[in-house]
Amino acid sequence: MSSVLLLNGPNLNLLGTRQPEVYGAQTLGMVEKQCEAHAADLGVALTCVQSNHEGALIDAIHSARGAHDGIILNAGAYTHTSIALMDALFSVALPAVEVHLSNIHAREEFRHRSYISRAVIGQICGFGSQGYLFAIDALAAHLQREAKTE
Ligand code: DQA
Repeated sequence: MSSVLLLNGPNLNLLGTRQPEVYGAQTLGMVEKQCEAHAADLGVALTCVQSNHEGALIDAIHSARGAHDGIILNAGAYTHTSIALMDALFSVALPAVEVHLSNIHAREEFRHRSYISRAVIGQICGFGSQGYLFAIDALAAHLQREAKTE
């Protein structure tokens, strides 16, 4: 059984009430429950963590090394600003998938740049909370391919 860390960044604890027309009506708790169930169906153990603090997110990425096989990350606004989060991902060298509920490329220009994208296998955005499920599928398939070639 593989193990994946699902990490959500700032303001994502407010899902459900925060700009529902952009981010949807589901709470983070609901999204995490769906993700856990979907992951379990694929034989993946999912650990969900959310923090509004950049340092705490970095610590969570560091702790993932040795504890998890991969990371799914929605870094919220830190996506567009945080070289430190990008460096943390490079440092642990775990396969990671970037998720955004909204299509960041169709929004304000400052959201088009993602530092996270440089350090991940790929980015999924614009599919609402379903994007997390796609990310689990993508990472599970990646981990399976990796296991076969080892
Ligand atoms: C977000 C997009 C970011 O630009 C924004 O700051 C967020 C959420 C998304 O999931 O669409 O907090 O990461």
